[in-house]
Amino acid sequence: MCGSECIKHTSLILKDIDLFYKPCTECKRVNFKKFSPLISQINLDEIDNTFGSCKCGKRHLDVVIAHILKIMIDGGVKGEKSTLRDTCVPLITPAYPTASVPFLPPDSLVILSDDLDKKCAERIIKEVREVKGVLKGNLKNTVGMRDAESSPHIYELLAGCDMRCDIVQTPSGVIGIYKYQGKIHIEFPKVKSPKIEILKTILREFDHPSVLDFTCGPGTLGIACLKAGARKVIFNDIWPPAVEMTMINLEANGFPVKISGNEEGLMASGDGFEVYCMDIIKLKDFLDEKFDICLVDVFPGVDSKEFVEIASKLAQKVVLI
Ligand SMILES: C[S@@+](CC[C@H](N)C(=O)[O-])C[C@H]1O[C@@H](n2cnc3c(N)ncnc32)[C@H](O)[C@@H]1O
Ligand SMILES: [Zn+2]
Ligand SMILES: [Zn+2]
Repeated sequence: MCGSECIKHTSLILKDIDLFYKPCTECKRVNFKKFSPLISQINLDEIDNTFGSCKCGKRHLDVVIAHILKIMIDGGVKGEKSTLRDTCVPLITPAYPTASVPFLPPDSLVILSDDLDKKCAERIIKEVREVKGVLKGNLKNTVGMRDAESSPHIYELLAGCDMRCDIVQTPSGVIGIYKYQGKIHIEFPKVKSPKIEILKTILREFDHPSVLDFTCGPGTLGIACLKAGARKVIFNDIWPPAVEMTMINLEANGFPVKISGNEEGLMASGDGFEVYCMDIIKLKDFLDEKFDICLVDVFPGVDSKEFVEIASKLAQKVVLI
């Protein structure tokens, strides 16, 4: 754990969320062309911490990326002719869909790039106040474990802290889903999450159902079910960091967690839920009850056949997300 104040109760994040990325009346707008080399648009020496900044403490996302690119060009990890477009993947936190380009307050951005080295990353953290974490990796490689046979993939944390929070609208209110972005896959926020839309339809069919969140990741769907009044939710994932995040997210969303002692597989429990860390095949032999719903959410490209087969032995209704 980063040990800092990166994790807050969701209600505290939501308090001022509408203003979080909004410019004040004096914030400076910029007009960089994202696909043209930055050096053809500005003298890089002009870019520092004061460049494009406002007394409210925010800077336009493009200014922040320009600052990062200047440091990358200086550090020799990007060519002189690089553009804002190919600088890095910007991951804002808290993450939610913004109608226009965000103006960033301090510590609101984690960046991902394959080109970075540690020295450059440390300089970015020191000099670019909006950046809280720097990851080395490629968006094409999904983080975590694709299935029981695959070896896990993680992004290397080069500097800072990579804890982010996704803001997710659910039928029963907003939840905050924290994740160490180097160990948990990236989901880009959408106004209407297709996963949550599927969940909404299913939950209408049942009254206080029991739910098995078979491949829970950081716990999004199961927590949405608890919020919607599910009488019991079993969370499970094969990837230990996902289970760790599920426990953190339960707490952050108002569901106190008791860490378990030495029971095999059972990591934690609380009022109306249990959290397991197992391969689904093993979990099947472990659970001796039938659930109303089993949620199966696998990574794109993973064959869901076996997951669905096993799920259908455990639940009345299998929902492939
Ligand atoms: C797409 S993610 C789930 C995301 C989650 N439903 C959410 O919305 O936050 C797929 C998950 O399946 C898990 N997984 C893959 N193979 C598994 C297995 N054999 N048993 C249990 N979990 C598995 C991965 O670790 C990953 O967290
Ligand atoms: Zn942190
Ligand atoms: Zn301002």
